[in-house]
Amino acid sequence: MKKAFVKSYGCQMNVYDASRMVDLLGREGFAETGAVEEADVVVLNTCHIREKAAEKVYSELGRLRVLKGERAEAGRPTTIVVAGCVAQAEGREILARAPGVDVVVGPQSYHRLPRLLEAAASAKVVDTEFPLEDKFDHLPARRTPGVSAFLTVQEGCDKFCAFCVVPYTRGAEVSRPAARILAEAERLAGAGARELTLIGQNVNAYHGEGPDGAPWSLGRLLHRLAAVPGLLRLRYTTSHPRDMDDALIAAHRDLPALMPYLHLPVQSGSDRILAAMNRRHDADTYRRLIDRVRAARADIALSSDFIVGFPGETDADHAATLRLVEETGFASAYSFKYSPRPGTPAAESGDAVPEDVKRARLAELQDLLEGQRQAFNRAAVGRTVEVLMEKPGRHPGQVAGKSPYLQAVQVEADPAAIGTVVPVRILRAGANSLFGEVAAAGTAAAPPPGGPAAAGPAAATPAAATPAAA
Ligand code: 5AD
Ligand code: SF4
Repeated sequence: MKKAFVKSYGCQMNVYDASRMVDLLGREGFAETGAVEEADVVVLNTCHIREKAAEKVYSELGRLRVLKGERAEAGRPTTIVVAGCVAQAEGREILARAPGVDVVVGPQSYHRLPRLLEAAASAKVVDTEFPLEDKFDHLPARRTPGVSAFLTVQEGCDKFCAFCVVPYTRGAEVSRPAARILAEAERLAGAGARELTLIGQNVNAYHGEGPDGAPWSLGRLLHRLAAVPGLLRLRYTTSHPRDMDDALIAAHRDLPALMPYLHLPVQSGSDRILAAMNRRHDADTYRRLIDRVRAARADIALSSDFIVGFPGETDADHAATLRLVEETGFASAYSFKYSPRPGTPAAESGDAVPEDVKRARLAELQDLLEGQRQAFNRAAVGRTVEVLMEKPGRHPGQVAGKSPYLQAVQVEADPAAIGTVVPVRILRAGANSLFGEVAAAGTAAAPPPGGPAAAGPAAATPAAATPAAA
C-alpha cells in the first residue's frame, strides 16, 4: 500500500485541513504513516504567520530533499507537496528555493490534491487559486472524527490588521451555509464526536446563509448546533472583539453546551498601538466587552493573543498591555514578538523596536501570563469539574480528558468512560495537566472562578450530561 506523511504547522485550521488531506489521500489508496522515510507522498501544511514559522518549512524541505534522493536511489520515488499558507503566499518561488518540491497547493484548492499528484508525475505543479467550487463538496466524509472534532464554519478575514498576512493567504471572509454545517455536525456526532470546535480565521464574523435564506449569526448557529443529538460540548475559535455581538454573548448565557471559555485576541493594551495595528477597537472597549461576557456567564475563562514590539511601541505602551493583563486575568494566552511580514502595511513602517527590547518585553509579559495560568490551574485543585473523557491517558488506568476550560486532565478511570462527561475531583495541578479521580455519583460539579482576577463565587454548571459515565 502507498503511504502518505502529512505534517501540519501553525493554527488549528491547518490541523483540520491536514486531517482532511489525510482523508482525501485515504480515498486515493494512501495509508497515513508517522515515519517520513517510508512515505511515497509527503505533505507539509505550512504556516506563514511569522517569519520563524515560514523559515522552518525551508529547513524541513532541505532535509526532505536528501531523503528523496536516498529513496530514489533505492528505486522508490517520493512526491513532496507544500500546502497551506506559505504555498499560497510564495507560490512558484518555492520551486526555485526548494528544488525537491513537486506540488505547491494553497489552502483553498487542496481538494484537488489527487489531480495535482497525478499531474506531478510529469511536471511540477502550482495551484494557488481561490476556486469557485466549494472545496468541502469535494472532500470525503470523516470516518473517525474522535471524541473532540474541529468543524470549519468560516474562512478568511476582512479585518486587515496591519501586521497580519491572513487576509492575503486565506482571502476574504467566506461563511459556509448553516445547513451544510448542521449536516456535517450530525454526521460527526453520529460517528462518535461529542465536542465540536467551530473554527474560522474570524469565526465570530460568521454570517452563513440560513435555511430560511437569511444570514445566520454565530450565536444562532450555536443555538441550533446545541440541539444536535449526541453533542455535549461546543466551542469556537478564533474571534475578533468587534464581532462579539449580543446574540453570541447571549449564547454564552443560554447554552449549557457552549463551554465557558473564550479565546478573544486583544494583541495590545495600548490605544495608540491598537490604532496603528488597525484593530478597530481600543483597550477600554475590550474591557467593557469582557465585562458584558462575564455578566452573561460569570464562570467564563478567558484566553488571548498578544504581540509585543509592534513598530513604534514604547515602554508606556508595553506597560498598558501589562496593565490590561493584570486587570483582566487570563486562564491561558499566546504571546509573540512582532515579526514583519512581506506585503503587510506594518512591514513598511520605519520605527522598528530593537530585538533585545522585544525579547525583554516578551519575557515580562509571558511571566505575568504564566503566573495567571498557573493560578487558574491551581484554583481547580480540590474542586469537582466536568471532564470530557477523550482518549487513553499517559499511563494504564488513566484516561485523558478536558475540563470546560480546555485544561488537560489525567483521570484515574475506566477507558469505557471515553466519550462521556464525568465529574472529576481534581487532586493536583501539574505544569501542563490536572490530575484527578472520578467523583462519587451525585457530586455536583462546580467550576473554578472565571480567571485569577475574577471575584466572587462561580455559577454552577449543570450536572454531567451523559448517563453512561463510569
Ligand atoms: N507577528 C507576530 N505575531 C503575529 N500574529 C499575527 N501576525 C503576526 C506577526 N506579524 C499573532 C497574532 C494573532 C496570532 C494568530 O498570531 O497575535 O492573533
Ligand atoms: Fe489577522 Fe486576526 Fe486581524 Fe484577521 S482579525 S487580520 S486573522 S489578526
